[in-house]
Formats: sequence, C-alpha cells, structure tokens
Amino acid sequence: MADRQSSKGTATADRKENNGAAQVTREELINLLNEDLAREYQAIIAYVNYSQVLKGAQYMAIAGELEKHAAEELKHALIIAKQIDYLGGMPTVTPLAVKTSEKAEDMLRFDLDNENETVRNYRQRVRQCEAMGEYAMAEHIREILVQEQEHQIDLATALGKDVNEVTSPEQRA
Ligand SMILES: [Fe+2]
Ligand SMILES: [Fe+2]
Repeated sequence: MADRQSSKGTATADRKENNGAAQVTREELINLLNEDLAREYQAIIAYVNYSQVLKGAQYMAIAGELEKHAAEELKHALIIAKQIDYLGGMPTVTPLAVKTSEKAEDMLRFDLDNENETVRNYRQRVRQCEAMGEYAMAEHIREILVQEQEHQIDLATALGKDVNEVTSPEQRA
C-alpha cells in the first residue's frame, strides 16, 4: 500500500508523507525499540525509588500503585528485549536518566511526563511494526500500551488532572 505510486496529486503525496513515520527499516526498528527499552528501565528505577520515597498520608494509595507499576515496567522491559533479540539486535543495558525530588508532586509529574512520552512512542511503534508486517510484535506492544495508558490515568488522577492528548492528528494519520 505504502509503495503505491502517487498519481492522484497532493492528497496522496500528503498521505504518503504522514505515513512516512511508519516506514522504518529493520535496523531503525531495532534502534527505536532500544530507546523504548531504555525508557522502560528508567520507569522501573523511577517507580522503585518514588514508591518508597513518597511521603504523606494522602499519597499512600498512589505509592502502592507505583510499586505495582514497577513490576509491570519490568515485564515490559523483558518483552521489548525479546523483540530486539528476535530482530537480531542487542538489547541495551543503559536506562535513560531518572530525576529525583523530595516533593511528592514532582515525582508524580516526572512519572506522568515519562508515561506520556512512552504512550506517544508505543503508538508509533505499533504502526511501524504493522507496516513491516510484524503483526505479532505489534500485538505485544499494544498489550504494553494498554498498561501504559492505565499508568497515565493513575498518575493524572493522583495529580488531579485529566490525561493529555499526546498524539498529534498528523501522527494519527
Ligand atoms: Fe512500560
Ligand atoms: Fe508505564
């Protein structure tokens, strides 16, 4: 489909451009999945730290949730590492940097920002896997995405906010 030659003028050309992000090589997909893996490691570390450091009676329920998130992020890391290995790549061992703070609200905000970034990336990854015909991989990432969106909701709720729209109309095309 994506290879179909544009003979219908700019509408088709625009569509091709919008879908461009979905067309990646195997090598590019390995690199992108390694970025996802580095983000999963970051999430594990942040949730381990924040779930124990978070203080204040009003935050005890969310602290328990964060502890559960840590375990879920570890499962995600294992799934993503397996996909990288399947593609012939070497799973990274380096997490993205984790911010720390003494303030509960900061910690929840850092987590929410990271989850927004994660959701944005996995939505794109599903499209990229499907464009390559890697439907099973897309399915694994969809399952992770369901949990990441639950994490987003838990954090936004604890902060008394709505969940932001993280994907632009162009990215959704
Ligand atoms: Fe995750
Ligand atoms: Fe998450």
